[in-house]
Amino acid sequence: MSLFKGRDMISLRDMDVDDLWTIVRTAGEVKAGKHQDCLKNRTIASLFFEPSTRTRLSFESAVVKSGGSVFGFADPGSSSQKKGESFSDSIRTVTGYCDAMVIRHPVEGAARLASEVATVPVINAGDGANQHPTQTFLDLFTIHEEFGRLKDLRIGIMGDLKYGRTVHSLTHAMAMFGAEMVFISPPSLKMPATILSELTEKGISYRTADTPEDAADMKLDILYVTRIQKERFGDPQEYKNVAHGYRINNETIAALGEQVRVMHPLPRVDEIAEEVDATPNAIYFTQAHNGVPTRQALLGLVTGGIV
Ligand code: CP
Repeated sequence: MSLFKGRDMISLRDMDVDDLWTIVRTAGEVKAGKHQDCLKNRTIASLFFEPSTRTRLSFESAVVKSGGSVFGFADPGSSSQKKGESFSDSIRTVTGYCDAMVIRHPVEGAARLASEVATVPVINAGDGANQHPTQTFLDLFTIHEEFGRLKDLRIGIMGDLKYGRTVHSLTHAMAMFGAEMVFISPPSLKMPATILSELTEKGISYRTADTPEDAADMKLDILYVTRIQKERFGDPQEYKNVAHGYRINNETIAALGEQVRVMHPLPRVDEIAEEVDATPNAIYFTQAHNGVPTRQALLGLVTGGIV
């Protein structure tokens, strides 16, 4: 097993295939009932400087289910940031109160900065439009649960590829497993050039498409849908120009084929019609629920409760 105890989890760029397998395998063990008390006597700080439902609550559920304690805030307005305390000083303080900390922040690089200041493992729960590694861990766990493999998969990644941190992390991971990828987005929300260059440097080819139907010939295993990240647009008009541009419905599923599984990190706005929820293709709520065992596994690994 790769060494996890004491490690920060900031970016997929810091990880290799063995690391990802360790997390997926351990999450499977947790879901099967192993490692029940892996956070006993451990205290986790949950510091959310940006809104969240799934990430914060599944982390907190993970801690409680694994016998640990969790404290923190969901609104930085209730912290001493409101009085002018610097982010670094907050982290320097909280590091003395916990065995690991989970941080979501609107600024790219905030989790990395925290990891340089903290003396306990820091887990990035999303930093601006940059990375969301724990979302990718649960995505991989869900894909493995559904397909029984992480290799030889065809995935369409669709929506706001410019600002969507989940798809940035996921692209790095799927590249490590050699997936065939097609990026589907409006022209103004394409995958950042830095990420595309990294793929090219690694010899990983990819396609681009304007609509999911354009990728129908690929017989996609997965269509990974994301919402347009309204909160990241500097110009409201720029958002209005691209909002509501895509809507996956049962017709889209029929065009892509019955094999396709639809994933979404959630929250959705209007990019997946509710009629899709009832189809066997929709696995996005299972995906969200898998956040709990995956985060139990991760916290157990980095705090040494799982060795
Ligand atoms: N997937 C995800 O990060 O959702 P939340 O913003 O609700 O945490």
